[in-house]
Amino acid sequence: MPIKKGSPDSDTDMGQMADPTHGARHIAIIMDGNGRWAKQKHLPRALGHKKGVETVRDIVRVAGEMGIKALTLYAFSSENWSRPADEVADLMGLLRQYIQSDIDEFDENGIQLKVIGNYKALDSDIVQLIDGALDRTANNDKMTLAIALNYGAQDEMLRAVRTIAEAAKRGEVDPQDIGVDHVSGALDTAGMPPLDLLIRTSGELRLSNFLLWQAAYSELYFTDALWPDFDKRELQRALQSFGDRDRRFGGR
Ligand code: IPE
Ligand code: IPE
Ligand code: MG
Repeated sequence: MPIKKGSPDSDTDMGQMADPTHGARHIAIIMDGNGRWAKQKHLPRALGHKKGVETVRDIVRVAGEMGIKALTLYAFSSENWSRPADEVADLMGLLRQYIQSDIDEFDENGIQLKVIGNYKALDSDIVQLIDGALDRTANNDKMTLAIALNYGAQDEMLRAVRTIAEAAKRGEVDPQDIGVDHVSGALDTAGMPPLDLLIRTSGELRLSNFLLWQAAYSELYFTDALWPDFDKRELQRALQSFGDRDRRFGGR
């Protein structure tokens, strides 16, 4: 029996014929709401972040199984340094643990790790861990997992502008010839597929300095689910919504 698009079965395992990605190649997620999740449960914020890492692990697995080509996760913004020092330390501790514990699985599953944002400003032991993981997974090609660390879109664009300006100064490019591809190619996401779908959890309706250039024609999806509660079902709902959109890119 054919399964009708949008029927209850179409986004479950029974809808095997349907493409679970609904054509999305690159998804990005603003993983928000760890603090509120903890507060709801009268737990310390640190436990919200810890549960958030478990969600990351699950969603990376699920996205890979679905055949998503690139997943970009906003883990720490350039503005998150303004949080209390103990919370920043908790987040950095979780990041250390996560890379160490999951690197083998990335490699086994063909995941290429990428980091966007100015991660070189993190503690030197984390920079070393990251560089090792980038190196080790560089030839994997099933899915790219880009983690945004000390990332801000304005900072990313400023660094790109400086790179291009330096090239112009050396006479390698005429300023009048600078085009979209030069800018895209100078951003941290260079080489990744165009961003199809940008998801934000926790009900906030803003981009918080994430992927401002890349989101030019992305579809946006907001859910009230707090990040620690986001699961395969939630991702399927977001992808279903993406599949139902009419992307016109300015045409008609
Ligand atoms: C997202 O959860 C994690 C990071 C920003 C690092 P929050 O910590 O922002 O959680 P809320 O927004 O306070 O609930
Ligand atoms: C955005 O969440 C950054 C990350 C998810 C890492 P925030 O919680 O920092 O965003 P605002 O402060 O609510 O805009
Ligand atoms: Mg938040």
